[in-house]
Amino acid sequence: MVEHIGSLVILGAGGDLTKRLLLPGLGQLLDSDRGYEIQLLGVGFDPMTNAEWQSRVRQSFKDGGTSSARSKAVAKASRYLQADVSKPDDLQRILDAATGVPALYFALPPHVTIAACASLEKVKLPKGTVLGLEKPFGTDLRSAEALNRQLTRLVPEKQIHRIDHFLGKSTVLNVLGLRFANRIFENVWRAENIECVDIVFDETLALEGRAGYYDKAGALVDMIQSHLLLVMSLVAMEPPSSIDADDLRGSMAQVLRAAHPWKGDAVASSKRARYTAGTIDGQKLPSYVKEKGVDPALKTETLAELTIGIENWRWAGVPFHLRSGKALADKRQQIVITLKDVPHRPYGLIGHTEPAKLTLDLNPDSITLDLNINGEGSPFTMDRVQLGVNFAPGELGPYGEVLYGILSGDTTLSVRADAVEECWRIVGPVLAAWRKDAVPIDDYRAGSAGPASWR
Ligand code: BG6
Repeated sequence: MVEHIGSLVILGAGGDLTKRLLLPGLGQLLDSDRGYEIQLLGVGFDPMTNAEWQSRVRQSFKDGGTSSARSKAVAKASRYLQADVSKPDDLQRILDAATGVPALYFALPPHVTIAACASLEKVKLPKGTVLGLEKPFGTDLRSAEALNRQLTRLVPEKQIHRIDHFLGKSTVLNVLGLRFANRIFENVWRAENIECVDIVFDETLALEGRAGYYDKAGALVDMIQSHLLLVMSLVAMEPPSSIDADDLRGSMAQVLRAAHPWKGDAVASSKRARYTAGTIDGQKLPSYVKEKGVDPALKTETLAELTIGIENWRWAGVPFHLRSGKALADKRQQIVITLKDVPHRPYGLIGHTEPAKLTLDLNPDSITLDLNINGEGSPFTMDRVQLGVNFAPGELGPYGEVLYGILSGDTTLSVRADAVEECWRIVGPVLAAWRKDAVPIDDYRAGSAGPASWR
């Protein structure tokens, strides 16, 4: 780690994200060989004593399976400051309380982050200050551009970490090793051999009390605009010459620039739906529109599908189907590369006719290759076999990885400004078509596989 980050300052310390994801991730990082002692400052709008805050930190560290002397020392020395981060004076007070160079982590709703960044312009930031920002970055292309301009008035791009925790998931990162360390895959990785790519993130979780945020975002913005388009960029990018921040993120941005709704038709390439009442794992769920805090007039989708075309030599004509939704029957979370069928199967070889398929599962982490081979009985009858391997979990969870990036000053796993803007540019026409109701909103029963008409 670069020694210069002295303090991790979490703005929004009282929130759910801090408790469930950030602090457990930090605890894992501190426990690992990559950790070192830092000062942890929690900042929130509501009052909390230092002792209450420290006990929250300890509990979240425990939830993340953390127990080292180092994490205990960090929790014990940690402090809480009550502040309104939209006020320059309060921000100054926070910066004065930080030891050494601070990393400011905005675990805040987007409009509060924007207000805090505007106020930071009126404060003198210590040299080297690092900013970590949670998605969503803006609410459309224009607001993302404005936020990016504002951020670079504060600190240089290399000190800005736009967090997308999917880039910290070990299976997502495995795409790099699989593609670029094995001739067998990278050679077939192109339109000539690949029929289509599916990137699916179906969740059994429903709204979980997040109406305040989710009802304005919906599945397209919450999952596809950010996470799944970035996963797609790793799957589809040209080989970078290294995996340092500039090379890797340059390749990701380049392929995103070539991506558009399939055949430029935002209506035909997209589908949306929302769940009605149902049962998941024996638990009854109300219809989405009856959930607390939901405004049915917003017509927010809880399931979205978008087909993307990548207009370059490698991918012309290959559809990338991106899909994500909530309250579905199964946690199907995977990247599926379906190969084209062979140009000619020798007459006499009978049986399975489906082409080979490579599946990277994100939950649990595994890779499976479905192949057709000669079966047990007649040697000329094809059977389907699966070659598979499960991955051991990464040393750190996704938030441990992204925090490591922030504290070590490595932006490789953070999203560059131009990539964020490209992701908004890609979904922009779809959001506009949906707002005009050019695509009907379908229904599906919570606990089902999605609308029957989609299958
Ligand atoms: C978040 C979304 O970014 O990612 C959530 O806001 C979603 O709606 C979550 O549930 C999925 O990621 P993970 O890693 O928690 O499965």
